[in-house]
Amino acid sequence: MRELLIRGARLYGEGDPVDVLVADGVIVEVGAPGENAAPESTEVLDAAGQVLLPGFVDLHTHLREPGREDTETIESGSAAAALGGYTAVLAMANTDPVADNAVVVEHVWRRGREVGLVDVHPVGAVTVGLAGERLAELGTMAASAAGVRVFSDDGHCVADPLVMRRALEYSTALDAVIAQHAEEPRLTVGAQAHEGERAARLGYAGWPASAEESIVARDCLLARHAGARLHVCHVSTAGTVDVLRWAKERGVRVSAEVTPHHLLLTDERLATYDPVNKVNPPLRTEADAETLRAALAGGVLDCVATDHAPHADQDKDCEWAAARPGMLGLQTALSVVVETMVRPGLLDWRGVARVMSERPAEIAGLADQGRPLVPGEPANLVLVDPDAEWTVRGAELASIADNTPYEGMRLPGVVAATVLRGRVTAREGKIR
Ligand code: DOR
Ligand code: ZN
Repeated sequence: MRELLIRGARLYGEGDPVDVLVADGVIVEVGAPGENAAPESTEVLDAAGQVLLPGFVDLHTHLREPGREDTETIESGSAAAALGGYTAVLAMANTDPVADNAVVVEHVWRRGREVGLVDVHPVGAVTVGLAGERLAELGTMAASAAGVRVFSDDGHCVADPLVMRRALEYSTALDAVIAQHAEEPRLTVGAQAHEGERAARLGYAGWPASAEESIVARDCLLARHAGARLHVCHVSTAGTVDVLRWAKERGVRVSAEVTPHHLLLTDERLATYDPVNKVNPPLRTEADAETLRAALAGGVLDCVATDHAPHADQDKDCEWAAARPGMLGLQTALSVVVETMVRPGLLDWRGVARVMSERPAEIAGLADQGRPLVPGEPANLVLVDPDAEWTVRGAELASIADNTPYEGMRLPGVVAATVLRGRVTAREGKIR
C-alpha cells in the first residue's frame, strides 16, 4: 500500500491544522495532527502554514501537441500544470492536425496518461478542421477512449448560428457542453487590440466589446432553445457579464470562465508595444477588469481558466500586428488569483477551491476532480503557501515557450506541492 501523510495543513485555510493520510490514491483519514506515527514507507509532506485545496482543474489549456512541439508538448505542458497546482487540464483542439476525430483525441489522452503528471482530457473540435462549416463527429469522440465531453473550436468562433444550433442540439444526447470562443468575426476583421482610445491612438483596428457580447447573447438564446449546455470561454467585457446574468436568471444552462490575465491586466499594456501582451480576446479596460473580478466573486462567472497559449519567439518577438495572440498561464494562475481576488478580500480559500477546482470539474464532467477533502475521496490535491511570494521568470517556467506577461513581477501565493491520486507530482517548484 502506497501511503502519503500530509502534516499540519489547514483545509481551505480554515480551522486548526490537521493531518491528512492518503493510501492507494484515496484520502483515508483527516484528523488532529501528530497522532499518526508514520510507518517507514510513508512519504511525509510537512505542510505547516500551508493551505490544502482540491487540485486545480483548467478548462482551457493549449498544449500544442500534435503539430507545434517547438512551443509546448503534452509532457512540458503537463509539467507546467503540475507546478501550477493542477491535477487535470482540458487540452484545446486547435492542434495540427486538429482534434476533430477519435484518432487525435485518443492520441492526446494516451500521451497524457503516459506522462502521468496531470489528467489530460482532450477537448474535441465542434467543426471539421475548425472551419465552422460541418459538424465534427462529436459522438465518435465522446464514445472514444478519451470520453470527450467538452467540444470547442477555440481560437475560432462557431460563427454560423445554424451550425452552433446543431452542435448544441447534438451535445444534449452526449451529456456534453459546447465551449464557445465568442468573437463575431465580421466585427473583428483586422482587429489588433481592444477597440477604444488607446488602440485608436496607435492606429490599430479595434476588437469591440460587442463582438463578444453579441455572440454570447445569441448563444444563450440558442442554448435555451435547445435545452443545451453552453460554456463561454475567456469572458473579457462587462457587457458579457450583464448578458450572462440575464441568462442565468432565466435558467439558461450557461457557465463561463475568466482568465487570470483579464482579471489583472488591462489595455494600458498596449503602451509597451510588446506583443507578449497581445491576446484574444484582447486586454480590456480597468472598468471591465473590475467588473470581471466582482462577477467571479459573485458567481456570475463560474471559474478561472488559463487559456495557456505558448508561442514561439519568432511569433512574439516581432511587430505587434504580425504577432500571434496568446500568453502562458498555467504556472502563474494561482498567484494572479491570489493577487486580484484573495488579497483584496473578494475570495477566501474556499472560494479559490470553487473557482479553480470544483466548478471547472463540474463543467467538464470530471467525477474524480474538485472533490471535498474528506475520507473516501480521490487524493487530487494542492498545497499552497499563502504568504510566500516569488518572482516570475519566463526562462525558468516549465513550458518550452516563455511568453509570460508577468516577467519580473513579484506575485503572492506559491504552490508547495501537487498530488495526483496520492502521488506527489510537484514539490517546491520541482517535478517529481
Ligand atoms: O490568445 C489566444 N490564443 N486566444 C485564443 O483563442 C487562442 C489562443 C491560441 O491558440 O494561441
Ligand atoms: Zn479562445
